[in-house]
Amino acid sequence: MKRVILDVDTGLDDAAAIILAAGSKSIRLEGLVATAGNVSLDKTLENTLNVCEVVGIEAPVYSGSSRPLKRDRIHAGEFHGASGLDGPVFQPRKRQQVQKGSGIQFIIDTVMAHPHQITLVPVGPLTDIALAMQQEPGIISLVKEIVLMGGSFIGGNVTSDAEFNTYADPEAAQIVFSSKAPLVMFPLDCTTKVTLSPEALARYKTFEGKSAKLFCDCMDTYMEKYRKRGAGYPAMHDPLCIAYLTDPSIFSYERHEVSVELTDEASYGKTLRGKDCKEGGVLVAKMADTTRFWSLFDQALLQLD
Ligand code: RIB
Ligand code: CA
Repeated sequence: MKRVILDVDTGLDDAAAIILAAGSKSIRLEGLVATAGNVSLDKTLENTLNVCEVVGIEAPVYSGSSRPLKRDRIHAGEFHGASGLDGPVFQPRKRQQVQKGSGIQFIIDTVMAHPHQITLVPVGPLTDIALAMQQEPGIISLVKEIVLMGGSFIGGNVTSDAEFNTYADPEAAQIVFSSKAPLVMFPLDCTTKVTLSPEALARYKTFEGKSAKLFCDCMDTYMEKYRKRGAGYPAMHDPLCIAYLTDPSIFSYERHEVSVELTDEASYGKTLRGKDCKEGGVLVAKMADTTRFWSLFDQALLQLD
């Protein structure tokens, strides 16, 4: 059983990751922390609470950082809609409300209370994780693993070099990548290889239950946003991190050092490949078995109401 804290900037693929986590028998969600990213924190928090309510997640939801460590805030509304989760219509919530207290303190307290048992899964800007490391460096050696979606070694999706999550807070990303924590990275190199086709979406629309409907309502929007931008089929960036927790053999990896460009303006936020290594560094996902990934999604949706 993987005990997991999700750190999310709930947009459409974050919602897919939350749904997959909720339906994965090998994952125990200890809590979720919403952070600013795709859209502002007030919206990512509301989106996270709404997704958890519909899917039946009872784990606590906390509020994380509202802005990057240093740079100005950016957003990705063009891919997720103004709300960050355009498409689904949510009823007033009966259960899920934001917890009092800091999401960063929740991360610190949980990791310190359960040494080598907690996996952090940040799928937005790395601000919360960086702040937690700065406030309590002890989590670096006590966290079980940090499995993150972010970065790219094949070109960016915000600038020609930089991927959104690292571009949104490059200083935070550099803190995390240089921390010596046990890191697993899902860059665009891997995540852009797993896309949702119209045929696959049509098949998921035959699944019963409100979780499957929520997934399809989100993916309808995601598919349309990609189509309008001539960007092909939508990439399942964030859910890949969840699939790794259930079955790491779905992916192939390389292990090398990673740093983040912080000085050159043109490539600010770009992740830079360092030397290959047999241990330490970052385990970087490169290839994915898409059939086995989608099979995990089928199983998760069949588990949920
Ligand atoms: O570049 C893709 C990443 O940026 C995903 O996490 C998506 O949700 C956005 O946050
Ligand atoms: Ca995200």
